[in-house]
Amino acid sequence: MSKLSTRHLIGIKDLTVEDIQQIFETTDNFKAVINRPIKKVPSLRDITIANIFFENSTRTRISFELAEKRLSADTINFASSSSSVSKGETLIDTVNNILSMKVDMVVMRHPSPGACKFLAKHINAQIVNAGDGTHEHPTQALLDAYSIREKHGDVRGKKIVIVGDILHSRVALSNIFCLQKLGAKVMVCGPTTLIPKHINELDVLVEHNLRKALEWCDVANMLRIQLERQDIKYFPSLREYSMLYGLDRAMLHSLPKKITIMHPGPINRGVEITSEVADSDQSIILQQVENGVAIRMAVLYLLAAQG
Ligand code: CP
Repeated sequence: MSKLSTRHLIGIKDLTVEDIQQIFETTDNFKAVINRPIKKVPSLRDITIANIFFENSTRTRISFELAEKRLSADTINFASSSSSVSKGETLIDTVNNILSMKVDMVVMRHPSPGACKFLAKHINAQIVNAGDGTHEHPTQALLDAYSIREKHGDVRGKKIVIVGDILHSRVALSNIFCLQKLGAKVMVCGPTTLIPKHINELDVLVEHNLRKALEWCDVANMLRIQLERQDIKYFPSLREYSMLYGLDRAMLHSLPKKITIMHPGPINRGVEITSEVADSDQSIILQQVENGVAIRMAVLYLLAAQG
């Protein structure tokens, strides 16, 4: 086994193509493990991991915890809402107090972009970014790319469109970095107000017409509108957004080829996709969630090998 080129997982930007391939090959092995009757291996038996979440999460938090348990690590879970952060404790003090209880690795979600990078400079433990504000969500991008590889055989040469709130999406940014490293062609699609002004620097195609984008792609990753990160109105109403950028069964069935539908969750049914699309045989949304556990097992296992 060759080692990853990084001690922390802060962003896809820091991974090499070889790192990503190594993570995928390790994921293949762990996927076989979690489909066995005995789903557990002793790989991280002497490791303690703290899951520190300063923002809400369903999929990522449970997926990391399950990955840790499948690897036999000891885990502790911290939710900021029920912690002493509300009494004024700083991020570094909070994490250093947790680390003093002999914790080896920290998985952190935080609303501020750069929080994980900042923490990595100030504490003596390995950090895995579980989503930092509008910046990156590396394990989501890895599980998304892995799911495309699983469905289509390879990511190279595939046409992927990411639709919706690109401006506020850490999933979009991490996906762009990951898919491009793996040789995919990437397009973003959404209203002008939800496409970042610096998009040209990312070397992606930009399309404002949903039908044209869907006719071009092999895979459509439909993002949620992140109302909680929007301090001003970026479009007149959710109904109008849905009419222009929502995907329903009629549009899906009118396309010239059978495309794959992805969504990182949580879904707002009836806004970015209808229930019929989310639950259709073209959707791999639940396969993404399933693959998330094996991807996170691979990331934690490979990072722990770095020490
Ligand atoms: N995809 C994702 O990050 O979902 P959660 O917010 O539920 O973790």
